[in-house]
Amino acid sequence: MKNIKKFDLKGKTVIIRCDLNVPIKDGVITNDFRIQKSLETIKYAISKEAKVIILSHLGRIKSEEDLAKYDLEPVSIRLSELLGKKVLFAGETRGRHTKALVRNLKEGEVLLLQNTRYEDLNGNKESGNDMELAKYWANLGDIYIDDAFGAAHRAHASNYGIAKLLPSGCGLLMEKEIKMLSKVVKTPESPYIVIFGGSKVSDKITLTEELVKKADYLLISGAMAFTFLKAAGFNIGDSLYEKDYIDYCVELLSEYSDKIILPIDVVVADDMHNPSDIQTKFINEIPDGYIGLDIGPATIKVFKQYLDDAKTIFWNGPAGYFENPEFASGTEKLANIITKTKATTIAGGGDTAAALSTMGYAGKFSHISTGGGASMEYLEGKKLPALEVLNEKNS
Ligand code: 3PG
Repeated sequence: MKNIKKFDLKGKTVIIRCDLNVPIKDGVITNDFRIQKSLETIKYAISKEAKVIILSHLGRIKSEEDLAKYDLEPVSIRLSELLGKKVLFAGETRGRHTKALVRNLKEGEVLLLQNTRYEDLNGNKESGNDMELAKYWANLGDIYIDDAFGAAHRAHASNYGIAKLLPSGCGLLMEKEIKMLSKVVKTPESPYIVIFGGSKVSDKITLTEELVKKADYLLISGAMAFTFLKAAGFNIGDSLYEKDYIDYCVELLSEYSDKIILPIDVVVADDMHNPSDIQTKFINEIPDGYIGLDIGPATIKVFKQYLDDAKTIFWNGPAGYFENPEFASGTEKLANIITKTKATTIAGGGDTAAALSTMGYAGKFSHISTGGGASMEYLEGKKLPALEVLNEKNS
């Protein structure tokens, strides 16, 4: 794939597709990880005196009411702060005003257009890759750079469509995502430890099949651990588990008994949302009526022994119900241990990235993927349309 550095950008209008799909509550951005990660490519284009147009989707637009909810303007303000320079904002996805802003754009200036999915109200033009829309956007620029790894599993007009029409390449974030995630599936250095967490075994079946053979050990945490513990014959109280996946876990445990490491103690509570009694219990003493919400300190010690010597660590899914600080300790302690190792450390999955950036670990991993669905699909070996089109163009 050709990257942005291979293009002569000076004086050219460069359209950069970013994934600035960040959580926003009442107009306030609650996590700017994806904006931060998009800066390198944007700064590079500015430094080369390009005229920069940025496109991004935000949320999913299904009705008129969604327009205000998913207005990209707060993102343009945050982007201005982080770049230390004014980012112009178009407020619309196309029209006379946009054309005038593009025409007047000077070298080194940055213009963000409104949420590309505003076009979805008009017959799903963005999500459905309407080529007339792609052509309109492509006509605004000379070069197209796709840096939106998080959206690479979508074939939208703003990523797939434009790439077909303009000289195209990838941004620096996209390039790093591919380089680091391909390490997880293709060339991990041993000892290679995979940590799984999050709520469901069923979400990770394909990924498990893909990684269990390659990893030296698979450490299981999060709510998904309880389906495994139940499969291993433990009483898990009222902990969440997936009944339909017990047989699957039994098979996996017997086939990979030397590789799969389960928690030995857990933090349990009488209620998930309003806990009045929180205890740490070994897994053979989980009381009836209690629900497991985090891994315990003895488990962390065991996991540490595996992690300390690792050369590659891949982590997907928080170790507990980290949204409540009472149950965030497992995730926080694992992050701490992992970032002190000498291993190449990679984390993926939307919740994991959110947890780690909220806890201040964003810069301490070798790589935290900005992709949720995209990173899962890439690791599962699926083809991502936005990458395919860039590869086709440059082959
Ligand atoms: C994401 O948040 O995973 C990406 O921005 C893609 O968003 P989508 O699932 O709404 O297409």
